[in-house]
Amino acid sequence: MLIQPEAVDFLISRGNGIEYCKKVLEGMEKKPLIISVDLLKEIFGEGKKAEKIERKVKVEIRKESIKEERFKILRDVTGNSTCEGKLKDFVDLFRNRFDKLSSLLKKRQEMRNAIPIKKVLRVDDEVATIGIVKDVRNSKNGIIAEIEDYEDFISVYIPKEIDFSIVNDEVIGIVGKRKGDLLIAKRIVRPEIPVERKIRYANEEKYVVFISDLHVGSKSFLEDKWKKFIEWINGKRGGERQKEVAKKVEYVIISGDDIEGVGIYPGQENDLKIEDLYLQYEELAKKLSDIPPHIKIIIQPGNHDAVRPALPQPAFEKEIRDLFSGMNITFIGNPCYFEIDGTIILSYHGQSIQDFATCIPNMSQNEPTKIMREMLKRRHMAPIYGSISSLAPEKEDYLVIDIIPDIFVTGHVHVTSIDMYRNVLLINASAWQSQTEYQKTMNFMPDPAKAIVVNLKNMTPTILQV
Ligand SMILES: [Fe+2]
Repeated sequence: MLIQPEAVDFLISRGNGIEYCKKVLEGMEKKPLIISVDLLKEIFGEGKKAEKIERKVKVEIRKESIKEERFKILRDVTGNSTCEGKLKDFVDLFRNRFDKLSSLLKKRQEMRNAIPIKKVLRVDDEVATIGIVKDVRNSKNGIIAEIEDYEDFISVYIPKEIDFSIVNDEVIGIVGKRKGDLLIAKRIVRPEIPVERKIRYANEEKYVVFISDLHVGSKSFLEDKWKKFIEWINGKRGGERQKEVAKKVEYVIISGDDIEGVGIYPGQENDLKIEDLYLQYEELAKKLSDIPPHIKIIIQPGNHDAVRPALPQPAFEKEIRDLFSGMNITFIGNPCYFEIDGTIILSYHGQSIQDFATCIPNMSQNEPTKIMREMLKRRHMAPIYGSISSLAPEKEDYLVIDIIPDIFVTGHVHVTSIDMYRNVLLINASAWQSQTEYQKTMNFMPDPAKAIVVNLKNMTPTILQV
């Protein structure tokens, strides 16, 4: 826009006039080519059209705030942490887990008449009870699980044809009959998610891109592939259809391990291209600034990032967030529930995938969506305490899946995988790092450099290979 010299004088004479004028002009649909004194007089209420303009601005501002409301964080430990690390805090955490999951279990038909363990020990008929698993050990043709509630505990024999996937610290329901001190299980009931649930679709065509595990700062970061991804998201690469989709992308979600980090595993220094943590984040900021600014980036920490390793992890500290200032980024914790246009997304880096793979027969970290199904069945992302992933003693258990998401996304194992379980879209988002020597020893079979694109209007996922 051009401005008349007299108009400049007019603005200066009105103190903070430039700011006000800027706001009004931003709200105008048809921007004037020349800012004249007459126009300014109208803007400042000294002309006839002033009222009309004022009203228009209000409408525009309202529209803007409605757009903001389309993205909402529903649950996140960031700013809500109560953790002091005392023994009592752990008691509170497991009590909260037991309360939340047993109340979900009580909604199940088989558990309506569940009785406390103390009473089970006095009944000879078939009973239903709920407990948190204290210990699991193998037995002849099955397992013995010790379960407990607030007052008592009992050993349960579970024949292997009934269930062989019980893990420590999950909350289960048992239907069975007592034989001496032992409860013989006939059925195991899990909190589960309903078979049929209405999917919450967005009202309009809206694309979300899911990526994870960028590991910026690692020598194995796939620089070339990232460049191609950036070209695509800027509408400069791919077929006509792919370019069309790129134009409609509104969100990029990064599910953790955004940088490679420092001192994460033995000998990591040999794999680093950038040795300083802050420089790694600076490089990440540089890379993400190539994503068009109208796209909101949602970024979560993982086990390689510079936040506490125990789950739930809060979002980055201010010192790191400041490196991204001026960018269209929302920093979230791990895990985090958020809503886009009415659709609920649960993003979790996925540290416990390896715990599940170790504890349940026939599970592998290279098939993460199979494990995500197990999480949904248990309504818990990381039940096993004291294994690979560590848990922080928060008063509330943030790992409980009490809200059923429409999309559940993880990363961590560097695989690209899509699945659907009872109307929940499961995604394990791809990494942007090739296999390192360390990952070879950890049996990581990466399938990197693929972006999963989902249209929230119909929940259709597609894999974009760059
Ligand atoms: Fe990773």
